[in-house]
Amino acid sequence: KALKDRNTFGLDSRAEFAYEITTAEQIPPLLQALKEQAISWRVLGGGSNVILPTHLLGATLLMNITGQAIENVDEKSTFVSVGAGENWHTFVTWTLDQGLPGLENLALIPGTVGAAPIQNIGAYGVEIGEYIDSIEAFDSEAHAFVTLTRDECQFAYRDSLFKQYPNRFIVTRVILQIPKAWSARISYADLTKQFSDATAAPTPKAIFAAVCQIRNQKLPDPKVIGNAGSFFQNPLIDIAHYESLIKQFPEIISYPATPGKRKLGAGWLIDHCGFKGLTLGPVGVYKHQALVIVHYGNGTAQDIMNIAKTIQDKVHDTFGVHLTIEPNIL
Ligand code: EPU
Repeated sequence: KALKDRNTFGLDSRAEFAYEITTAEQIPPLLQALKEQAISWRVLGGGSNVILPTHLLGATLLMNITGQAIENVDEKSTFVSVGAGENWHTFVTWTLDQGLPGLENLALIPGTVGAAPIQNIGAYGVEIGEYIDSIEAFDSEAHAFVTLTRDECQFAYRDSLFKQYPNRFIVTRVILQIPKAWSARISYADLTKQFSDATAAPTPKAIFAAVCQIRNQKLPDPKVIGNAGSFFQNPLIDIAHYESLIKQFPEIISYPATPGKRKLGAGWLIDHCGFKGLTLGPVGVYKHQALVIVHYGNGTAQDIMNIAKTIQDKVHDTFGVHLTIEPNIL
């Protein structure tokens, strides 16, 4: 099965075997059969955070479990259940239409609901982990369905339990806990700017619209030009290292992090090395945002890895910082 339309990089890729998953009940017998035949497998959601090879060997499970509903309401929160195959942005729009604000800062992030907790998607000061009540998943090791609480998911910056145990859990459904109390979160520089002239506090829908506008300006539309959003994580470095860097590069962009550490803006590091707008054959660095690698067409995973290496080497030589690739390399 051709996967070109199922990965936002737009890479030409063929799955040896592909299975459409529309209900959780399909999973146990399918995994059992694959195990008996010693066929490897992986799950593909929206394909917005993967780098696919030309031939994707083994079985690819195309996650298509859909549906969303308000499950429960208590004094403080509304609990919403949503299938792993739903599109994330469509789901965010639906919550706002239901009068359940909270996820507006996460508007327009590509991909599916099931993929969102894996890397704990985040933008404009909000991470999905804060809103997760629990996750229903199939544990392929125990060969049983499990429900994982927010704490058990171990959410951190672009990280979770699911990343620590790759290919162990298949997320089937996500249960979000959306607090009834709402307040605008616009402290992130780009958003503050959008509302600097406002006389009244912004509404959730106004924030939603502002986030969509900023993202549309900075990030290329994958339907027009292949990409997987931020290609590198913002690196965490020791304070001592940061203090020596700031002497040499006073304009360096950084954020507070865990004690003893500082988080650097990877986009700035790459930009400072002069890579913005660079083209290397069929791939390049996006001209409006140095953190995004773009694919113009007819390229392969190898082309992407080559440009990534060029960037990593130069950033390492210049700043002594290693950039970690964010998308999963399959
Ligand atoms: N910058 C540059 N040059 C560039 C890009 C950025 O100098 O080419 C500077 C900007 O001026 C800004 C700073 O770096 O001061 C940070 O840039 P930006 O605000 O665009 O955010 P980011 O660090 O590039 C992160 C996330 C995004 C998320 C945005 C908004 C990571 C790796 N990326 O980007 O997440 O949407 O903040 O919160 O954490 C994603 O993970 O795919 C993603 C898009």
